[in-house]
Amino acid sequence: MKAIHVTRFGDPSVLEAVDLPDPRPGPGQLTIDVTHAAVGLIDVYFRQGLFKDHEGLPRPPFVPGLEVAGTVRALGEGVTGFAVGERVVTLSATGTGGYASVLVSDQAYVVSTEGYDIDPALAVAMVPNAAMAHMALTGVARLAPGESVLVHGALGGFASAVPGVARQLGASRVVGSVRAGKLGVAAASRLPYDTIVDSAELPEALDGQLFDVVIDPVGGALRTRSLDLLAPSGRLLLVGNASGDWDSVIDSNRVWVSSVTVSGFSAGVYVPNHLDELRPAAEAALRAVSDGLAHTEVDVLPLADAVTAHERMENRSVDGRIVLAL
Ligand SMILES: NC(=O)c1ccc[n+]([C@@H]2O[C@H](COP(=O)([O-])OP(=O)(O)OC[C@H]3O[C@@H](n4cnc5c(N)ncnc54)[C@H](OP(=O)(O)O)[C@@H]3O)[C@@H](O)[C@H]2O)c1
Repeated sequence: MKAIHVTRFGDPSVLEAVDLPDPRPGPGQLTIDVTHAAVGLIDVYFRQGLFKDHEGLPRPPFVPGLEVAGTVRALGEGVTGFAVGERVVTLSATGTGGYASVLVSDQAYVVSTEGYDIDPALAVAMVPNAAMAHMALTGVARLAPGESVLVHGALGGFASAVPGVARQLGASRVVGSVRAGKLGVAAASRLPYDTIVDSAELPEALDGQLFDVVIDPVGGALRTRSLDLLAPSGRLLLVGNASGDWDSVIDSNRVWVSSVTVSGFSAGVYVPNHLDELRPAAEAALRAVSDGLAHTEVDVLPLADAVTAHERMENRSVDGRIVLAL
């Protein structure tokens, strides 16, 4: 099969095209003929070696890529409920394997898109993240109907899946924050935000509004400021650190005196421990995308342009998601 390897930790040039043997499914697994693989910041972190000291996370050589769309190629022993040729999207349990023409996956992480009229590039860009947003909003942030939500980095890969799912769950108001350079893109966005404000102008831009739930994939100073944006009993959910500020700390006494909750959601840890929540989350995600609640910009590049895709992730020339086509 065609694939991209991270040959060693480093800059985007360490990504190289390789030919590898086609994987075969083991018991409980499927193989997928990949048509599209999404590119996310986690792929960039793994390639850079940011988590190289964390046990169990990928070390070179490895094939990056967490999410794919494609068709079922073969079923392993004991797999039921899928047919060869069926259109699917998948999250990879290991966070790797996506940038390849064939992916092997545990059955639990594969979701059929049959019956939904969703373009595969949009499906891979949105369905896995919308499923994660559903698990985060229900299982961790405990969003209740009528509550309000603020989403930082509102147009980012993960963040852009949040407003549609929050709407489905009955949120009364969903506001996004972006950096000033993205306000033009925000104005043209079809994502179901009530409004999108400049993150540098928080809290003033919100005219005193407070939120029941704040979703923070950005971190750094914006995270610290978010404590002032929570309503009483509000929940600040930490889902990423796109700012790259790994030294930011939360003042625990402010959490106490404000009577708020700060929690974390990491798919790689949460999903394997809550597998029963994955299927309902995926069904909600498919509905959100097919109902037009998760329409984002998708830039499709050929697999051979994986280096360019990572360079664009790093220099922030991305308005929605980059997807590699096989
Ligand atoms: N919890 C989970 O399961 C999960 C799932 C997916 C991703 N994540 C994490 O979430 C984060 C985002 O990942 P992604 O794949 O969604 O990345 P992405 O598509 O690159 O989105 C990152 C977003 O953050 C914004 N941003 C970056 N630096 C910022 C700053 N200093 N201030 C304000 N906004 C800033 C970007 O805005 P610009 O466009 O203006 O740069 C962009 O909208 C990563 O840390 C990733 O590991 C977590």
